[in-house]
Amino acid sequence: MIISGNNLAHVQQAADALCAGELLGLPTETVYGLAADASHENAVAQIFKAKGRPANHPLIVHVASPEAVKHFASAVPAFAQQLMAKFWPGPLTLILPRQLDKAAAAAGGQNSVGLRCPSHPVALAVLKACADKGVWGVAAPSANLFGRVSPTSAAHVQSEFGDALLILDGGECDVGIESTIVDCTRGVPVLLRPGQISRTQIEQACGLKLLNPDALPSEAPRASGTLASHYAPSAKLRLMRAEEWQKALAALGPHTQNLALWSVEKPAHELMGAGLLWRAMPTDATQAAHDLFGVLRGFDARGVRTIWIEMPPDTPAWEGVRDRLQRAAA
Ligand code: TXA
Ligand code: MG
Repeated sequence: MIISGNNLAHVQQAADALCAGELLGLPTETVYGLAADASHENAVAQIFKAKGRPANHPLIVHVASPEAVKHFASAVPAFAQQLMAKFWPGPLTLILPRQLDKAAAAAGGQNSVGLRCPSHPVALAVLKACADKGVWGVAAPSANLFGRVSPTSAAHVQSEFGDALLILDGGECDVGIESTIVDCTRGVPVLLRPGQISRTQIEQACGLKLLNPDALPSEAPRASGTLASHYAPSAKLRLMRAEEWQKALAALGPHTQNLALWSVEKPAHELMGAGLLWRAMPTDATQAAHDLFGVLRGFDARGVRTIWIEMPPDTPAWEGVRDRLQRAAA
């Protein structure tokens, strides 16, 4: 059932459901989450079950404010403090050492915990209402079946989990791709997942170089968003340079079947047959991130078999979108 995030009584209803150990479709500025009380072992188990997610893949715990970090983390390095001060509330998740008696199931048994204070006003209202009842953290992975495209609207969440799930409608997500994840447990910041907050912004905020995971000796499973194949639509997805899709389309002629294309340039008029579904790819990375998952879901909904996507520019602003596209194509 979808209820409105603009209605205070509904926000309270959503918080009450979480505090009672139930699941909730929760809007955030990045993507919608499938939320549960992070300290409620049974509720957290329901998240893993509903998503079909392996139990050792840790979930992000959402908090209402930086003060709530003390309920979960055992230490916060100075650079993590700086990142929190600069980017919270916002689309940044910090992996911190975990108090071992806290949120163990949500952390997938790891010694660390991923914490994020989202900026979406509806998410913050829910988190504050939960905190008022002593529920300091809300675990929420993206509200999609494991490996599938993340949801950026309440309707997307409903199409994944059906009408039985309580979903708080907070409108379309602003950012559109999942939070940037920085591991703060290794003495230096390590980028586990790129997102809207860029590498440069992070380095500037903490004055340290941001490392890649492969620069350090490997440890446990890290982010499932870092699996080679993830975020996949049902159709087969190919990333192509502009010249590549233009050439391939010209070779097929106007009689293409079940093909979708997301590209900056519109194909020549004579190639726009009925079997080709075209959407304009924004030239701005922020706008493209916002549109990305909706475009993929839209293509799937139209039943296309093949999706061609123009390879975005190899620049820092596009790192988050390129990352999702490469995994979706894998
Ligand atoms: O924007 C987001 O981060 C969204 C919204 C709902 O907040 N959530 C999200 O959750 O993307 P999920 O579960 O789909 O991705 C969370 C990622 C996973 O790849 C997980 O492995 C990683 O965070 N993660 C969480 N806790 C971790 C930990 N302790 N150590 C390493 N990685 C962790
Ligand atoms: Mg996910």
